[in-house]
Amino acid sequence: MTRATKFALVVGTRPNFMKAAPLIRALESVPRFQSALVHTGQHYDHLMSNAFVKDLSLPEPDVNLNVGSSDHGAQTGLIMIHLEEYLKRNPPDCLVVVGDVNSTMAGALVASKMQLPIAHVEAGCRSFDRTMPEEINRLVTDALSDILFTADPYGDRNLVAEGHSKEKIHRVGNIMIDTVVEYLPMARKRCAAKKFGLQGKPYVVTTIHRPSNADHLDTLESVLLGLADVSRKWPVVFPVHPRTRVNIDHLRKKLDLPDSLIFSAPLSYLDMLSLTCTAVGLLTDSGGLQAEAAYLKVPALTVRPNTEWMVTIDCGTNRLVRSERNAISAAAQDCFRSGSRGTTPELWDGHASERIVDLLQKLL
Ligand code: UD1
Repeated sequence: MTRATKFALVVGTRPNFMKAAPLIRALESVPRFQSALVHTGQHYDHLMSNAFVKDLSLPEPDVNLNVGSSDHGAQTGLIMIHLEEYLKRNPPDCLVVVGDVNSTMAGALVASKMQLPIAHVEAGCRSFDRTMPEEINRLVTDALSDILFTADPYGDRNLVAEGHSKEKIHRVGNIMIDTVVEYLPMARKRCAAKKFGLQGKPYVVTTIHRPSNADHLDTLESVLLGLADVSRKWPVVFPVHPRTRVNIDHLRKKLDLPDSLIFSAPLSYLDMLSLTCTAVGLLTDSGGLQAEAAYLKVPALTVRPNTEWMVTIDCGTNRLVRSERNAISAAAQDCFRSGSRGTTPELWDGHASERIVDLLQKLL
């Protein structure tokens, strides 16, 4: 009888869950594969974690390391300490990490020191902006990984330019889109716009949580005023990430923002997908939403000087906009009025997890 091949899949934050869900299911479909789900506990609020686990029917994690919030060094260190203890007791044949968050990099660091093979899903994404903690996480994770699963040709090129051997690089498409494809019919039925009194009406969705926008009050004020201007034409729904709540509450008291800029708690995966798929436009600094909008053909404006998803710009579904009031309102008028004329990037088709698992069967 052939011995089982054991995987440990590390997740920690909201944007990890929609990447892990199709992968865990695809791994479980192979009889000789066994997989363990390790939740680092980087995100712990119900709305940032459990609500996603439930919506995406993820299995209960085999372990929760409960690291919670702290500064980047401390958070990364805590994940490493607890993950190493867990992996010593339960050594896998391969550690799988997804995306670019602190849990991703910490997982890769621990596994590489334990000489465990590492597979990175969403390898090669680069914004070329090292002020973003995610860019550091991407560079380190890719440097340590043995199998690099990329989402688009930029990923392949970036890795080759950094000296990674072509044999390690496998283009599989964007795994987040697997989850969009699977859950879109359910999300459409849900009609989350109704919760905001916007059923059948044109509206815009926004999320702003990157430190470069949310941690500087002057910048955040300018962004909020831009969103307020946009909301005078189309109501804007803004689910607020917990890390931005304090600064937003402070500015809401100071600024006279219109009621058409509608703030809400973070939404569950299905509610967010439901709201986004019928929006006239998306204003965001999130990485994942830019990619989801490309599949949904919702015009996206990325409120950042750069993006790790250049392919969405090439495909015409996404544009960059400065974090500045007039730039935001002018770009929204221009971009959302005309709708999306873009195309979905190649291999963003709902089958990335199958390609990954096919390759893992050949490689391991
Ligand atoms: C992390 C990821 C970011 C991703 C984002 C999505 C890193 C470096 N960043 O950023 O790429 O886009 O998740 O959500 O890993 N907090 C809560 N409850 C939670 C989680 C966070 O209140 O469940 C608050 C805490 O005040 C915490 C702060 O958010 O200090 C930062 O959380 P952290 O997980 O370090 O990073 P995010 O900003 O969420």
